[in-house]
Amino acid sequence: MTVESVRPEAQPPVAPELREPPLAGGGVPLLGHGWKMVRDPLAFMATLREHGDVVRIKLGPKTVYAVTAPDLTGALALSTDFEIAGPLWESLEGLLGKEGVATANGPRHRRQRRTIQPAFRLDAIPGYGPIMEEEAHALTERWKPGETIDCTSESFRIAVRIAARCLLRGAYMDVRAERLCAALDTLFRGMYRRMVIPLGPLYNLPLPANRTFNRALADFHLLVDEIVAERRASGQKPDDLLTALLDAKDENGDPIGEQEIHDQVVAILTAGAETVASTIMWLLHVLSEHPEHADKVCAEVESVTGGRPVAFEDVRRLGHTGNVVVEAMRLRPAIWILTRRAVADTSLGGYRIPAGADIVYSPYAIQRDPKSYAHHLEFDPDRWLPERVKDVPKYAMSPFGVGNRKCPSDHFSMAMLTLLTAALSTAYRFEQVSGSSDATRVGITLHPHELLLRPVPRD
Ligand code: HEM
Repeated sequence: MTVESVRPEAQPPVAPELREPPLAGGGVPLLGHGWKMVRDPLAFMATLREHGDVVRIKLGPKTVYAVTAPDLTGALALSTDFEIAGPLWESLEGLLGKEGVATANGPRHRRQRRTIQPAFRLDAIPGYGPIMEEEAHALTERWKPGETIDCTSESFRIAVRIAARCLLRGAYMDVRAERLCAALDTLFRGMYRRMVIPLGPLYNLPLPANRTFNRALADFHLLVDEIVAERRASGQKPDDLLTALLDAKDENGDPIGEQEIHDQVVAILTAGAETVASTIMWLLHVLSEHPEHADKVCAEVESVTGGRPVAFEDVRRLGHTGNVVVEAMRLRPAIWILTRRAVADTSLGGYRIPAGADIVYSPYAIQRDPKSYAHHLEFDPDRWLPERVKDVPKYAMSPFGVGNRKCPSDHFSMAMLTLLTAALSTAYRFEQVSGSSDATRVGITLHPHELLLRPVPRD
């Protein structure tokens, strides 16, 4: 008899008992929590943490898992057991194409990220500096003192112009950018409706709203084809994202297909337009609602520039201005809800998640959670000072997401938003005018209902 034979047999580690996530309260027969989700989704998502770190919600007959604790949203985003899928994405794919980076998974997604990533690397951003600078200063000149600014269309316009001019360079982009704005603006309004109220063929009925939407969708796809065709016809290959997309190779080393090139341009433009536009709207709102912070931004910019027009190179020295941008994004994250689907039976935080389950979490709720932030609803840019930022729990502030689906454009967007905030606050103070409504409007992104501002020169 050997020593080994009398030892108790080594047991595989016992997996801790997985629990069923609690069901959120307040559901009603048939609709479940769907009515709450439709009536006031932000308030609903913000209350879920009271029920647990992972909770089940019922949207009609369907069970959806909501993740409410910041560390678990990080675990979700970093785990390979979850991928991008679900009804939200399927309805987007129907309109915007199936082959772009925002909806792909697995090897195709990894390859597409490798293609686009160089255009967004930290060392690529200064190359966009001159365009960002030009656009920021052109905006302060376009806005005339005393006139009313429609912040929705103006923010959209500048967001699309900067993305299109920086990433799809070419003289033709100046004209195209205006058409892109018009098409995308209409598209985003209609897309959210189609996502939350999926009436299928009813959207094909020849009603005026459907016609306008379908025209905008067709024009947008046509514009993308024109952009690609003109670049090819020009014979030029500037060092930009469009060249990277046109030269990309698939997993076998063959050129990628026309549809994928098209869908990739669509994915970049749509992902980059409304997110930035909504954030600019909220920044303008902050400048009008918190004149003390606007003054502080102005003072910081002047101390750095000595009174000359703010330049891209100044951005890294505009610490407070950057903190104003981050704090605005904390309280009003453009992307207020994110979804995933479990690809296997798995777990999160000790809770069982079955294969095929749809998971949601809300950066809005996470970033306003009183468990993570003291004075959670207060606009306090100084909470991002180095000595205080350590109090913020990990993943409690991720407006650009986490993991392999993280927004590629975080550095690009932060540079642009900081520069814009600096240029606008040194030129003007802003006041809301009558008829303006800054109530939060929930769509694909969060933005003010109809923000109307009057710029008052600083001098
Ligand atoms: C993905 C936010 C600007 C392109 C994402 C995601 C978030 C986000 C949260 C991750 C979605 C997820 O985890 O499921 C933002 C915010 C922006 C911004 C807050 C500005 C304030 C931009 C811009 C571009 C862009 C300017 C391009 C010009 C993309 C793309 C993806 C993405 C292509 C998909 C990445 C993937 O699935 O691998 N963005 N974004 N975004 N964003 Fe952004």
